[in-house]
Amino acid sequence: MTTNPQSRTQWLGRWGFILAATGSAVGLGNIWKFPYITGEFGGGAFVLVYLACILAVGVPVMMTEIALGRRGRGSPIDAIRRVVGESGRGSAWSLLGWMAMLCGFLILSFYVVVAGWSFSYLWKMLSGGLAGSSVEEMAAIFGANNESPLNLGFWSTLVTVATMVIVGKGVQAGIEKSVSWMMPGMVVMLLVLIVYGMFSGGFGDALRFLFSFDAGSLSSEGMLAALGHAFFTLSLASGAILTYGSYLPARASIARTTLTVALADTLVALMAGLAIFPVIFANGMSPSSGPGLIFMSLPLAFQAMPLGTLFGILFFVMLSMAALTSSISMVEATVSWLCDNKGFSRRTASWGTGIVLWLVSTLAMLSFNVGADWTLAGKHFFDWLDYLTARWMMPLGGLGMVLLAGFVLKSETFREELGLSAGWHALWLFMVRYVSPLGILVIFVDALGITRVDFALHWPWLLAVLVVITLVGELTSPRLRRVLCP
Ligand code: PFF
Repeated sequence: MTTNPQSRTQWLGRWGFILAATGSAVGLGNIWKFPYITGEFGGGAFVLVYLACILAVGVPVMMTEIALGRRGRGSPIDAIRRVVGESGRGSAWSLLGWMAMLCGFLILSFYVVVAGWSFSYLWKMLSGGLAGSSVEEMAAIFGANNESPLNLGFWSTLVTVATMVIVGKGVQAGIEKSVSWMMPGMVVMLLVLIVYGMFSGGFGDALRFLFSFDAGSLSSEGMLAALGHAFFTLSLASGAILTYGSYLPARASIARTTLTVALADTLVALMAGLAIFPVIFANGMSPSSGPGLIFMSLPLAFQAMPLGTLFGILFFVMLSMAALTSSISMVEATVSWLCDNKGFSRRTASWGTGIVLWLVSTLAMLSFNVGADWTLAGKHFFDWLDYLTARWMMPLGGLGMVLLAGFVLKSETFREELGLSAGWHALWLFMVRYVSPLGILVIFVDALGITRVDFALHWPWLLAVLVVITLVGELTSPRLRRVLCP
């Protein structure tokens, strides 16, 4: 039983989709991960590569996903099946929808644990539980927070429940309503924190760190991280954007909407850097302290500053809201599929999904305490979830989507959905057919341990490969289409 796609809910307001999709994109990836990987991989040069990846791979893939969602008006599985059916192609492609849906669910299973850190730190800030005076003491507080499964489990459960309450209320009354105040609220808090950073004494250093280009600091590992992060930060290939796109009104421009979301996401990541690094530099700390940057160095730095606790609270409120607006997007695909295909009410579908999610995320949470020794090939369950989704499912899903769009579907489908001028359409097609797949293949080559592609060193090779695959692709695309379409 599938509900009628024509009667599918749509975003109420003009900004509904943009706020929800930006809410999905802006999350722990921007505020927790982006600053620390920028710190690890050397600052400005990394930022530049990251921006290039967003433009060359992120934007074309996001446009493709939104178009698939809107055209198919359903969860990733149903939408892809419909769109592929419309072009007279085999339904095996809907496996791509299954993978995307699973990917969003698995990401959320470990995401709620990290979001739980944020909520617990907010509580610690409020209750004065962060009174450490050295990095070692802060590390001990972070360790103690993770050590107790009851404590960590409580916070990740809280995030799971909050996510499901919002999703259970529906697309308009739950998701749209919550993002319509959380997103502006978050931006205001971020701006306040940047102004605070300006007066901290470390702002100049932060600007220099984020925006000065030193090609020597670029490593191939950094470039790969930038490419992988472009996928994660734009919530690609995890069902979120495609499902949100299925609620997009027909008159909205997909290209304009995508650019707005990608720009907002990038701006927030840079703004997070401008809020965090001044405080870090002003206290003489290292920007490259890894995942602990905002949970150890930053709280310590806040403590040493006037009104630091207040601004620390603001920081963790903002981080928790960013995490929540992303979490809700990761289960929407599953909930929407259950409602459309199994006849569940939204509330039942949400709580059912929530229970399974809770079980998986509890296993992920245990990686930090009682399950610390449960490893497979040297990785915990938590690390496996991260590795499988970021290194395999997201790139594989992205590759599938661009091949589907570039070679399999009838060209009218995307001409109609995207509504671009001939020149822009050709550019988009070139990106999804050749540039994005090549970028994604580089991730696989690395994940398989074949070799590490160093863009700075190997760019002539990459360019040559691009030219060759473009020529071969253009010459053989009708035949290629037959191969790709069982
Ligand atoms: N884009 C989110 C972030 O940067 O934190 C993470 C994310 C959200 C990934 C939604 C995947 C997803 F479906």
